[in-house]
Amino acid sequence: MDTVHNLKTAMEQVAQDIDELFDKQLSIPEDPRTRLIEAMRYAAIGGGKRLRPLLVVATCALFNVDRKAALRVGLAIECIHVYSLIHDDMPCMDNDDLRRGKPTVHKAFDDASAVLSGDALQALAFEILADEQIHADPNVRLELVKALAIASGKDGMVGGQAIDLAAETSAEPFDLPTITRLQQLKTGALFGFCLEAGAIMGRQNKDVRDRLKAYARDIGLAFQIADDLIDAEGDEAIAGKAVGKDAAAGKATFLSLLGLEKARSQATALVDQAIAHLSIFGEEADFLRGIARYIVARDH
Ligand code: IPE
Ligand code: IPE
Ligand code: MG
Ligand code: MG
Ligand code: MG
Repeated sequence: MDTVHNLKTAMEQVAQDIDELFDKQLSIPEDPRTRLIEAMRYAAIGGGKRLRPLLVVATCALFNVDRKAALRVGLAIECIHVYSLIHDDMPCMDNDDLRRGKPTVHKAFDDASAVLSGDALQALAFEILADEQIHADPNVRLELVKALAIASGKDGMVGGQAIDLAAETSAEPFDLPTITRLQQLKTGALFGFCLEAGAIMGRQNKDVRDRLKAYARDIGLAFQIADDLIDAEGDEAIAGKAVGKDAAAGKATFLSLLGLEKARSQATALVDQAIAHLSIFGEEADFLRGIARYIVARDH
């Protein structure tokens, strides 16, 4: 009970901190870039669960990393996440009108603003990680930049999005191993970065990194099963985005392959497995344990 209460407080605090940091990063210039920055602010400020920054902060806290620096790493990963959502919603991809409870960027602005605000958020992520405020040691910053580049690009999120689109048009529905790989890239890679970044900031050895990576892999898959469940049986008003789209698109997902019951039990099993990977830590890892449970219990 206490952990749940603390987790809620921690989520609210991180959300507020991330909003403030975005507000500072994205001041409106007095020149014709106004529309671009307004689109970036519209997408980035005041919405979302801020789960990825929370994971970075929770992992950094294990190793007593300065919270301000941890939040800046969280800001960088949230930039990538928001950019991925803006582009994911565009007519050429999922063609969605609603995101985080309000019209998507291409609806509220236009397609060009959606492309450009996403592009600029992606670049901003790397600018933030390369900045001295992240860490005094440039090697640490370089490691973070490289890890985020891998997690975001063809071997990470973008690669997963490409397989996801291929799944919609493929003649044969994709099988479970292919769907698992799709989700690991599309969603899991950015979660993986959050845990890896904490370990990089905390200068941890390979054993600790491997355990955190294993935790991330399991919660990443559990998270995507929960996302698919929300799509199948969630409420648009609570989810803040359209539901029922995966089935309508005839997309192979964990749900379409496993069925509701098996998908649900698989998600629970993945959370238990994720928590088991944290056995080397004491109660300092209770937040990470709580986040794992929250990921499958959520309704939005
Ligand atoms: C939604 O991510 C997109 C997926 C990766 C499935 P979130 O559910 O974390 O979205 P926000 O940030 O809370 O809006
Ligand atoms: C999008 O997956 C994941 C990324 C943006 C990388 P989905 O298309 O399932 O996400 P939602 O359901 O629109 O949030
Ligand atoms: Mg999509
Ligand atoms: Mg989508
Ligand atoms: Mg979805």
